[in-house]
Amino acid sequence: MRTIKIFDTTLRDGEQAPSCSMHLNEKIEIALALERLRVDVIEAGFAIASKGDFESIQKICEVVKGSTICSLARAVPKDIDAAYESLRNAKNARIHTFLATSPIHMQYKLKMAPEKVLATIGDMVRYAKKYLPDVEFSAEDAMRSEKEFLARALEAAIAAGATTVNVPDTVGYTTPMEMVEMLKYLQNNVRGIENVTVSVHCHNDLGLGVANSLAAISAGAGQIECTINGLGERAGNAAMEEIVMGIHTRKTYYGCETNIDTTQIYRSSRLVYNLLGLPPPINKAIVGANAFAHEAGIHQHGVLANRETYEIMTPQSIGLLNNEMVFGKHSGRHAVEKRLTELGYALSKEEVDELFDRFKQLADKKKTINDHDLEALANRTVVDA
Ligand code: KIV
Ligand code: ZN
Repeated sequence: MRTIKIFDTTLRDGEQAPSCSMHLNEKIEIALALERLRVDVIEAGFAIASKGDFESIQKICEVVKGSTICSLARAVPKDIDAAYESLRNAKNARIHTFLATSPIHMQYKLKMAPEKVLATIGDMVRYAKKYLPDVEFSAEDAMRSEKEFLARALEAAIAAGATTVNVPDTVGYTTPMEMVEMLKYLQNNVRGIENVTVSVHCHNDLGLGVANSLAAISAGAGQIECTINGLGERAGNAAMEEIVMGIHTRKTYYGCETNIDTTQIYRSSRLVYNLLGLPPPINKAIVGANAFAHEAGIHQHGVLANRETYEIMTPQSIGLLNNEMVFGKHSGRHAVEKRLTELGYALSKEEVDELFDRFKQLADKKKTINDHDLEALANRTVVDA
């Protein structure tokens, strides 16, 4: 079974999202959480971007020894120098350099002719290789690049010594089938690609970041770049917890696994939401408050009989103690009776019938019925009897 490398960029691309910048101590806390998750590569920052970024990469290198620490650099010598300097104390270090390969980026942003882009990729990967053996090259906006040109760009990076080549969907433009077609094309047309790790980095502008990442795995990608809670520029990056649980839950289908300790997922997700002061969306896949909650009577009945009727993964697998029965107007008698038993009430069938009538009347007035409400209903039943 293949092991897919998880490259987390919460501390770099995640932090680039508006109002998501973090202080040194917050970054260290997140880096330690990523190490506990057993993330393979932590992209700790963009060393040239600021003194603060540089120092936090340095500090993360001192405290985290279980994951490779990566520092981002544009394809220019001064960025690569800074990236290397920031990584000096790392046990395992990677320089990640990038240059855009799409016509629109080359013309309007880089103002560089395509042949110059190819030459720069080779030169800058070679420059980074003087410092470290582990060098990643990203072809920014790869999924809007001409595939023949992208193939030449990745070939130039590999010939210069890149050990990972990344195919970013920088603007979240692609779809799963196109991702599969692109990776197949590259596998058949880039010399040396079989000797390096092929990575993808999907943004979520069309809500397809996770789907495109999983499609890439089916097409042979060996590394996925992602962030906790899908944090990132605009609509974010592909969410790590969704990709990892997608692979974990459908292991037989994908024929692969990751090194992630999934029981650390919930705790890490909460840490990131709390540090940023962001509320988790209640329906967020895997970690939202409703992800393991059941209110509808039919669902509650099914889950109580066999949880697999409506749960495709266990709450324990992401580090939660249990699933949750939420009581409201859709709830069934079965679940209400079970909760009352857990709360210490042994009621007769007639008493439960009578209580359940009053439960439904109350539920029409209140969004959710909590344990206190159930106890009040049950106490009245006992007193009235
Ligand atoms: O989205 C992107 O293209 C990036 C690169 C720097 C990998 O974040
Ligand atoms: Zn990105």
